Amino acid sequence: MARLSAPNVERARSTIALYPHARSALIPLLHLAQEQDGWVDEAAMQHIAELLEITPAEVLGTASFYDMIFTEPVGKHLVSVCTNIACLLNGGVELLEHAEKTLGVRAGGTTADGEFTLEEVECIALCGDAPCLAVNWRFRGKVTPSAFDTLVDDLRAGRLAEEIPPHGTLCRVRRDTTKTSESPA
Ligand code: FES
Repeated sequence: MARLSAPNVERARSTIALYPHARSALIPLLHLAQEQDGWVDEAAMQHIAELLEITPAEVLGTASFYDMIFTEPVGKHLVSVCTNIACLLNGGVELLEHAEKTLGVRAGGTTADGEFTLEEVECIALCGDAPCLAVNWRFRGKVTPSAFDTLVDDLRAGRLAEEIPPHGTLCRVRRDTTKTSESPA
């Protein structure tokens, strides 16, 4: 059970205040819950519904529609390997197979320590640098098997913590919601 924490309720309320209709803040609040726990569980959906005065079913309907919102647990690092055409022709499938071997999980799985979830994805718009992957939506191109292993080692050791924050963190710069477009700069 993971309702939003007190600081996140505060952030949720100031986000809702930005919109003429509270329900328009649904997707930002889903991201907020995902940033808190890495995914959005039933308790979080219930809490968001209460904050927005909509039904939990409406929250689930939106949460389950978008690929970037997860309604199942996800590892700290979401590794998304592209196997679309440019990557396919440049070793994307072999890279995915290598990733499965290195991480010890099939695509769609999460490592036992909760560090990595591996997924196969369609084009991530870095075709010129195929084969490509993304970790927590931070993109890497021309990924060789040995570069993949180095990436995994670096992530495990926390050496990339500055560059790649935990899954669910879209942005580490917080908007100051007390300022509006009418506020003096
Ligand atoms: S086909 Fe892989 S990034 Fe476009």
